[in-house]
Amino acid sequence: MRKKIGVLVSGRGSNLQSLLDHIASGELPAEVAVVISDQGEALALQRAAKAHIPAVVVERKACKDKTEFESKIDDALREAGAELVVLAGFMRILSGFFIRRWEHKIINIHPALLPSFTGLDAQGQAVDYGVKISGCTVHFVDEGTDTGPIILQKAVPVLEEDTEESLAARILEQEHKALPEAVKLWAEGKLSVAGRHVKIAK
Ligand code: GAR
Repeated sequence: MRKKIGVLVSGRGSNLQSLLDHIASGELPAEVAVVISDQGEALALQRAAKAHIPAVVVERKACKDKTEFESKIDDALREAGAELVVLAGFMRILSGFFIRRWEHKIINIHPALLPSFTGLDAQGQAVDYGVKISGCTVHFVDEGTDTGPIILQKAVPVLEEDTEESLAARILEQEHKALPEAVKLWAEGKLSVAGRHVKIAK
């Protein structure tokens, strides 16, 4: 049986689309069981609808506190039978409450080579800093911000004429490869975590 994943989104959903495309083409042996958005207007929701994937909106402002918000997300994931949570442009920090429930079962895509440029606007941070190479990182989520064990990274050159937007577009192309690749490794049972290190079985 194909492994079920739940995808958390906040916006455009191009990484969700990449997962759906890799599944449709047979390259990724998994199934998106549910898409959960904290934004009712997210374009990602339209992508889910088009692919006939159940979608749930959980808005933070509709919940009395963060625990209620995260409990609703947790409930939706469990109802859908998700075995892995993929953060694909989900722009909220999850608390220890949620992360401990899904230990080593949450992965995130971040648009920089961690540990550089954590948090928001990673591509703008890279341009401002003047690095010559940036990229993207797929990692397991721990209780820090963008600090969890790294599964894989892809490097991208930063050009002198780059703006935040042009660099973000070049990194995004690599994100669309890196995320399905990491989920595939997980779906095939090839990932194990030992402290900070993720081992990939051959
Ligand atoms: C992606 O670049 C992703 O790496 C980034 O948001 C974008 C979402 O795009 N995530 C973060 O910055 C998380 N801190 P998408 O909605 O088109 O997939």
